[in-house]
Amino acid sequence: MRLRMLLTLMVHVAVSCDSDSKPESEPGPLPIAGPSAAIDQNPADGIVEYSLTVAPAQFEFLPGAPTEVWAYNNQLPGPLLLANVGDLVRVHVTNGLAEPTTVHWHGIRVPHAMDGVAHGDGAGAIQPDETFTYEFTVRDAGTFWYHPHIRAHVQVEAGLYGTFVVRERPETAPDVDADRLFVLDDVRVRSDGSLDRSTNGHDVMMGRAGNLLLVNGRNDPVAVDMGAGRIERWRLVNTANARTFELEFTGVTVIEIGADGGLWPRTDARVIDSLVLPVGARAELLVRLPTGVDAGAMSAVVLVGTSGGGSAYQPMPLVEVAHDAAADATSPRKGHFVDPVFVPIDTAGATAHEVVLSATDTGDFAFTINGQTYPSYETWQVTANTANVIAIVDELALEHPFHLHGQYFQVLTINGRDADMPGWRDVVLVPPQATVEVATMFDNPGSWMYHCHILEHEDWGMMAVVDVMEPGHNGH
Ligand code: C2O
Ligand code: CU
Repeated sequence: MRLRMLLTLMVHVAVSCDSDSKPESEPGPLPIAGPSAAIDQNPADGIVEYSLTVAPAQFEFLPGAPTEVWAYNNQLPGPLLLANVGDLVRVHVTNGLAEPTTVHWHGIRVPHAMDGVAHGDGAGAIQPDETFTYEFTVRDAGTFWYHPHIRAHVQVEAGLYGTFVVRERPETAPDVDADRLFVLDDVRVRSDGSLDRSTNGHDVMMGRAGNLLLVNGRNDPVAVDMGAGRIERWRLVNTANARTFELEFTGVTVIEIGADGGLWPRTDARVIDSLVLPVGARAELLVRLPTGVDAGAMSAVVLVGTSGGGSAYQPMPLVEVAHDAAADATSPRKGHFVDPVFVPIDTAGATAHEVVLSATDTGDFAFTINGQTYPSYETWQVTANTANVIAIVDELALEHPFHLHGQYFQVLTINGRDADMPGWRDVVLVPPQATVEVATMFDNPGSWMYHCHILEHEDWGMMAVVDVMEPGHNGH
């Protein structure tokens, strides 16, 4: 176990304000390096409009051995969708598959009708050859992603996932030299290049792990050249079906500054040398290469076979950083310099609820939440804008990345101990046979899914719905 150092960032805001030296032109936001961005088809300010076509595509994970995947706009990961906080977003989605699909905007607080969920029978889904337009306003800045919410274990594994970045207002955005996005995934590919689409009993139990690690759709580490003294913002997203990414940083100095629901106050920022990124979760980091250090890396620590026949944990580099002396910084950036408002939920008098994650094998094996298997679920109604504490109880010897739609929560405790997880989240990893307590205000009325984000667990029933009622509604 590595120790996480807590550190209060000391930021020197020693910027000389010389009113005579105005910049030639307004500096725009930094481009985001990573999956290429979709083109905004709407010239109006405050509105972004994108088109996504879902269809089979050819891709190459292994050199010379093409793989048939399913993709958004022929890209894997799907195109980066960009908006500014407060924008109205319209996305026209055309289904070119032979089966229904949906687009769920993971982590974005959309109105319920735009959440892109469908029930098992396909009601509410986009049928083959149909187009549906999603429309919503983005209220929160942060790093999000999108993916189908029907037969997700098949559709996401086949390549349907993309990222959605909502930019902060320019005056509150971290001051950095580069902004990079790394989408982490794994995929199971046979040696002839074909995608192994089978799901066996072990996959259902453990979640389906791939044999190739992918970063931005490729099985090669991303090469980054960095000058000493530069500060980069790295955004991480885990889109795997089931793999928890255990990341390790070497050479570089890394400060964790945010998670699912955006950036943290600076007093919560911390220096890290490792990070556990559950399925569905995001992380926001500031990364530097210290003076005098030639190289650094972000690696996934994975279990691999050894020549002796046993297995061992080994680091596999996902990003390789090399020192570029020509790019050494003369005047360092401020990094994360604005404190976002974060008001912790007052849990005194909160409504308590228990969510028990388990399984049943009377009849066919299935996962359960509070004894029921989706599409069955218990009736759970809450009043919007009231404090709720949810105890998520894992009865199994398996970990579960618990995900709630439509709102954020704060993670309070893990097995009764302070979780020490700052900020707003929409995913929390529940360790085997552990209890995790989270608090939420349920500020977004509607019927919202909550489920395990191991897609095999989700599709084998570990999913349910909470009804968030407008205050004054007498449905209780
Ligand atoms: Cu990312 Cu209900 O999902
Ligand atoms: Cu699970």
